[in-house]
Amino acid sequence: MTNTVTDTTMTAARIHQFGGPEQVKLEQIAVPSVASDEVLVKVFCAGINPVDWKIREGHLKEMLPHTLPLTLGWDVAGEVVAKGDAVNDLNIGDAIYSRPDIGRNGSYAEYIAVKASEVAIKPSSLSWSESAAVPLAALTAWQALYEIAALKAGDKVLIHAGAGGVGHLAIQLAKLKGATVYTTASKKNHEFVTSLGADEAINYHEEDFTRLKDLDVVFDTMGYEIQEKSFGCLKEGGILVSVVAPPEAALAEKHNVRSEFCFVQPNRSQLNELAALFDKGEIRIEVAQTLPLADINKALEQSESGTTRGKLTVRIAE
Ligand SMILES: NC(=O)c1ccc[n+]([C@@H]2O[C@H](COP(=O)([O-])OP(=O)(O)OC[C@H]3O[C@@H](n4cnc5c(N)ncnc54)[C@H](OP(=O)(O)O)[C@@H]3O)[C@@H](O)[C@H]2O)c1
Repeated sequence: MTNTVTDTTMTAARIHQFGGPEQVKLEQIAVPSVASDEVLVKVFCAGINPVDWKIREGHLKEMLPHTLPLTLGWDVAGEVVAKGDAVNDLNIGDAIYSRPDIGRNGSYAEYIAVKASEVAIKPSSLSWSESAAVPLAALTAWQALYEIAALKAGDKVLIHAGAGGVGHLAIQLAKLKGATVYTTASKKNHEFVTSLGADEAINYHEEDFTRLKDLDVVFDTMGYEIQEKSFGCLKEGGILVSVVAPPEAALAEKHNVRSEFCFVQPNRSQLNELAALFDKGEIRIEVAQTLPLADINKALEQSESGTTRGKLTVRIAE
């Protein structure tokens, strides 16, 4: 192992039990060691995602059997400071970003150990905070729209919550493919979503999105009643991809459409492609707020409010 780190302990935001914000504690714990195929990353910024508070609450404990205590946070931008002997494609000092394995300890910490295969060089045009905001949300939009829905030029797609972390990237990726994009957003965010390329913004507080018909793809980032109602917007043979809840097969059958659940996976080559798109200025990331790690609960509370435009991040070092 090559190691440039002299610290033996670090600060991390962890939970010992599932529950509310009171369960998140800033603690001093050992700096993680790395396996031969892993790198140790000094975390400069970590991205906030709704999955963080969902895991804290225990909502995903059947799906993700975490061992407690657990460090939250599964988006990271930072620098490689140590690497295992089998890592040949990353170097000490590399500026990286990653959506690391969600089954392991996360990035609300001064250091994180990550499989090298889950790490990519960060976009050089983005700040640490912007880079930390990208991986989980952008990979989700990429995997849902490009891999599962196989979105193509000329397709008509409805993207729910276009102003959110996933939605604002999904709009841009859909436009890059040449799709026509409809999106739901509050009136105050219509200028924002149209600036990202949305062809039509629907104010879901006042308008019923189900007036949309014959769509090729619905990207469901809301679930529940919105997911159910979205089936009626699809043309025969269209597809609904949800990232919130597995769609009911019977509903898909009734509407003669397909439906899939997408759970985002780490992916270096997609992060490389995304970095190139950011660096060429073809897509952009919106960071609404960057807070210090000490305010982690404030950040999680804001995420849980469901009103954030773009992304939230926490700053840990720099
Ligand atoms: N399965 C996976 O792998 C995966 C990955 C990423 C995310 N997710 C899930 O996907 C969901 C979205 O994630 P996110 O990070 O994009 O969340 P987010 O950034 O917190 O979403 C906030 C946005 O939601 C919008 N919104 C709230 N209620 C709405 C409604 N009824 N209709 C349309 N928009 C509404 C708000 O827009 P306005 O202010 O304009 O109202 C706000 O901009 C979460 O449930 C998250 O857990 C799943």
